[in-house]
Order: sequence, then structure tokens, then C-alpha cells
Amino acid sequence: MRTTVGIVGGGPAGLLLARMLHRAGVDCVVLESRTREYVEHRQRAGMLEQGTVDALRACGAADRLEAQGLVHRGIELRFAGERHRIDFPALTGGRTVTIYAQTEIVKDLVGLQLAEGPPLLFEAEALAVEKPDSDAPVVRFRHEGREQTLACDWVAGCDGFHGVSRRAFPAATSRTYARDYPYSWLGILADVPPSCEELIYARGERGFALHSMRSPSVSRLYLQVPNGTDAADWSDERIWDELAARFAIDADWTLARGPITAKSVTPMRSHVHEPMRHGRLLLAGDAAHIVPPTGAKGLNLAVSDVSVLARALTEVHRTGSTQLIDRYSELCLSRVWQATRFSYDMTRMLHAQPNGDAFESRMQLARLRRITASRHAAAELAANYTGPPLAV
Ligand code: FAD
Ligand code: DHB
Repeated sequence: MRTTVGIVGGGPAGLLLARMLHRAGVDCVVLESRTREYVEHRQRAGMLEQGTVDALRACGAADRLEAQGLVHRGIELRFAGERHRIDFPALTGGRTVTIYAQTEIVKDLVGLQLAEGPPLLFEAEALAVEKPDSDAPVVRFRHEGREQTLACDWVAGCDGFHGVSRRAFPAATSRTYARDYPYSWLGILADVPPSCEELIYARGERGFALHSMRSPSVSRLYLQVPNGTDAADWSDERIWDELAARFAIDADWTLARGPITAKSVTPMRSHVHEPMRHGRLLLAGDAAHIVPPTGAKGLNLAVSDVSVLARALTEVHRTGSTQLIDRYSELCLSRVWQATRFSYDMTRMLHAQPNGDAFESRMQLARLRRITASRHAAAELAANYTGPPLAV
């Protein structure tokens, strides 16, 4: 098989890149190792920056998002028994965010791609990206029980944190910057209307908790738990009791409970791979960088990467100019490092230290007090949370 752009991975990054290239008249093939059912039901992100919504709209993939997405104009911070609202439009000159599940974005993009092309192969596992520093890179993959090759002009490595694309970068010219955190998140989905209109980020000595949502009838909540936690050790009752305790404030407020339909534990890490390009292989999304989920930057970064990449590949295809593709890594990494810093700061400000470090705890409160007392500090949080406009 041969194509112009071989895309490894059919998560949000790979699928959106395919959609953008297809609309620009550049042909491509997407290889996804899992089944359609699996990728459409993998529970993950839900908070979209305005730039992400704009990018989906611009490529004709936002019909359902516009009908069903929940536009949010702020978040609530809870600490020391108090609640404080951060008003995004007032602090950013009008920016908002939208709640719409990653599972739904993936369903929308898969539906469009299967209806209109380009080719998307499920259960097609890339084994290796070969000859990335030549003019004719190749993706070796297994599909329908046999090994095959996809000959390409360019390869986009959109295969997430555990993918194979990153391995094709030579160790001598690559570098990884990483940080593990001493806690994880237990995430649940519950069939109960959210107990809030906007997301709540709660910090307390018992640990962090986040109240998010998926729709007017489905809540999504997260609890800080120790690394190595088995979700099976948390009964539904224990989860609701712990959430209620962490969201409690010195005023009347009740957390509504309902049937829990999914439970999973996610470790937290920061990881940045530099550079994001080697020859004709370009990494995008989680294949190149991971952030801890506090602040919801992962999916938004993936969308930002592929927006630059689609523009750069279209420019090469149409004019032969490599000007933008030569700046791909540098353009993406500047946003990636800002999101890495923001996610790191949010994570450290809101999670209880497992060693009970009292100094760190006072520093967290001082940071939160600064944000809620100073318009300047609140505007800094709001600008990072809603995200800067996309680079191209
Ligand atoms: P992935 O979604 O990991 O997709 C990679 C794809 O490649 C997968 O489909 C995989 O099956 C496929 N693949 C892997 N290896 C191969 C191979 N060898 N061959 C072929 N295919 C392969 N981000 C936000 O912006 N907002 C949020 O609110 C948010 N919340 C989150 C909450 C949780 C609990 C978690 C875990 C993450 C959250 N994120 C959030 C992060 C977000 O989900 C990821 O950043 C996003 O999925 C990245 O998309 P991607 O396409 O780069 O990678
Ligand atoms: C969600 C996840 C996050 O990490 C976050 O900061 C906000 C929302 C979510 O899954 O809805």
C-alpha cells in the first residue's frame, strides 16, 4: 500500500489530522491497532478549549458538538471550606470552554472518515516506522493476520504514549524530560445529574477532587488516590462518601449520588519528547508529550499539534515549501512547555502531599488565596485554562 501521509494511531490526534488533510486534498491512510468499538468507548477527556472547538468546526466535525456541547464560562475553586468562582469571559476578553466527551469526538470523526474517506484500518497494528530519515519512509504493520507495508512521503506518529513511532527517533538526537507524581486519579462516570453548573476543583487535606460532567444527566468525577490503587478496592459507597467529604464547604451544598457506570485509575505524569520531528517522521499528541490531567490540556495539545501539522503538510504538498514543516517541532514545543508548566502548577497546587508536608500545604493555600484575591492572578489562571489561540 502507498499514500502521501501515513498516520499511525486513530485516537483524536490521528483522526483529526486525517480529516484536515482530506479536506485539504492530501491523501492519507490511518492505521489503528484497536477495534472501532474500543476507541469509541475509551473514557478520557472532556474539557475543550475554544481553539479546539474552532478547529473541529473548521473541518466540518462539530455538528453534534455544537448541538450537545456544554459551554462553560468559569470554574469553581474550593478550599478551606470556601468556594470561589473564576469568571473566564470577564478575565480573558470573552473566552469560554466546552464540555464534550473525547469519546464523542472520536465517534464523530470515525463516522465522517468511514463515510467520506480517507482509509481508516482498525486492528492494524504498526510494528515499526522504518527509514524516517530517507525520502521514502515505510510503516510496517500487521493487519488481517499478515504483515504489510505502507510506503509514505511522510509519517505522522499519533500513536499515543505507548506507541511505536517515538522509537524510530535516534537516541543520540532525542531527549526526554519527565516527572512522575506520587498520586493517581480514580475517575468515575455516574448516571446522575451534575451537582454543579461549572466544574469544581477542590483542594483539602484528604486530597484533591474534581467534579466534571458529560451531559445534563451524566456526571464525571475524580478523586486523588495513592499510586498503585486498585479501583476494585473502592466500593460505590466509599467513593461517594469520600467525594462528599472533599467537596464539603461551610455552607449548604449536597453532592447528588447515583449509579456508577465506570471506574478507572490513571497515574499522573509529565513527559516531553524533543524534538517532535526526525526527518519525515512527525510526532503529534500523546506520542510526543503527556501532562497530568489537572487543567485538562492533553487532548487540547493534541488538537493544537495536528492543526500545525496539517497546515505544514498541506503547504509541502501544494507548493513544495518546507518552511512550516521545518518549524513544526519548535512551534509545537513552545505551546507544549507552557501547558506542561500550567498542568504541573495546577497539580501541585491542588493535590495533598502523601508525606503530609506542612510547608507545602501552606504554600498551596497561599497560591489559592493569591488567585482568589488578585484579579491579575485569576486572569493568569483563566488565560492558561481557556488556552491561547492556535498557532496557525
Ligand atoms: P491517544 O488517545 O492515546 O490515541 C492514540 C491511538 O493510537 C490509540 O487509539 C491507540 O490505540 C493507537 N495506537 C497505539 N499504538 C499503536 C500502534 N502500534 N499501531 C497503531 N495504532 C496504535 N485531555 C484534555 O485535553 N482534557 C481533559 O479533560 C482530559 N482529561 C483526561 C482524563 C483522563 C482520565 C485521561 C487518562 C486523560 C485525559 N486527557 C485530557 C488527556 C487526553 O485524553 C489525551 O491527551 C488524548 O487522548 C491524546 O490523544 P492522542 O490521539 O494523541 O492519543
Ligand atoms: C475533565 C478532566 C480534567 O482533567 C479536567 O481538568 C477537567 C475536566 C473531564 O474529564 O471532564
